[in-house]
Amino acid sequence: METSVNLRINVIVGSTREGRFSEKPATWIADFAKKQSGLEVEILDLRDFPMPFYDSAKTASQMGGVYPHETVAAFAKKIGEGDAFIFVSPEYNHGIPAVLKNALDWVYAEWNQKPMGVVSWGGVGGARSVEHLRLVSIELQMMPIRNALHMPFDIVMAANQAENPSTVFAKLEHPHAESFVSQLVWWARILKLAREEKK
Ligand SMILES: Cc1cc2nc3c(=O)[nH]c(=O)nc-3n(C[C@H](O)[C@H](O)[C@H](O)COP(=O)(O)O)c2cc1C
Repeated sequence: METSVNLRINVIVGSTREGRFSEKPATWIADFAKKQSGLEVEILDLRDFPMPFYDSAKTASQMGGVYPHETVAAFAKKIGEGDAFIFVSPEYNHGIPAVLKNALDWVYAEWNQKPMGVVSWGGVGGARSVEHLRLVSIELQMMPIRNALHMPFDIVMAANQAENPSTVFAKLEHPHAESFVSQLVWWARILKLAREEKK
C-alpha cells in the first residue's frame, strides 16, 4: 500500500440532513486511510459547501473551470486538489442523495481521470446507491474501483449506539477497508502519473 507519490484523498460526506449517519463512517474511513504513508486525507462535508440547485445555462464541462457561484468554485478547487475520492453516501430511494448528485453535477474537469470508491449502508448495504454513484462517476470521467464498503443496518444501529462508532466499523470492516483503500491508492498513483505525463 505504500506509495512514493504523495496522494491526496478527499472523503466526501454525501448527506447533509439533521442527525445524519454519514459523518460517522466518514470520520472512520478518513482516519483509517490517514494511517497509510504517503496519503493526505481531507474530509469534504457538503454542509460546508451549500451549493444552489444547478441553475447554469452551461454544463459544468462547458465552464472551463470558471464556476458561477463562490461555493461551487470553492468546492471545485478542493476537488481539483484531490487525487482520489471516497464518497460516503447513503441510499435514498435506491439512489444517491440529491445534495450529492447536485455537487457532482456542478463540477467537471476536476473530477476527471481520478479514481473513486464508495462507502454505503442500508437494506442491501447501500448497493443500489453504490451502483448509481459508479454510473454517474463514469460520465464525469472518474475511474470507479471494484471494491466498495457495504454496511448492513445492524452495523448502522450498533454504530449509532456506540460511544465511539469507529470501533464498530473497525471490528466489522477492517479487512475490506484495507483492500478498499489499497485498490483506490493503486489507481490514484497510476492516474496521477498519467495526468502529469500528459501536461
Ligand atoms: C429520503 C430517504 C430515503 C431512503 N431510502 C432508502 C433506500 O432506498 N434504501 C435504504 O436502504 N435505506 C433508505 N433510507 C434509510 C437510510 O439508509 C438511513 O436513513 C441512513 O441513515 C441515511 O443516511 P444519513 O443518515 O447519512 O442521511 C432512506 C432514508 C431517507 C432519509
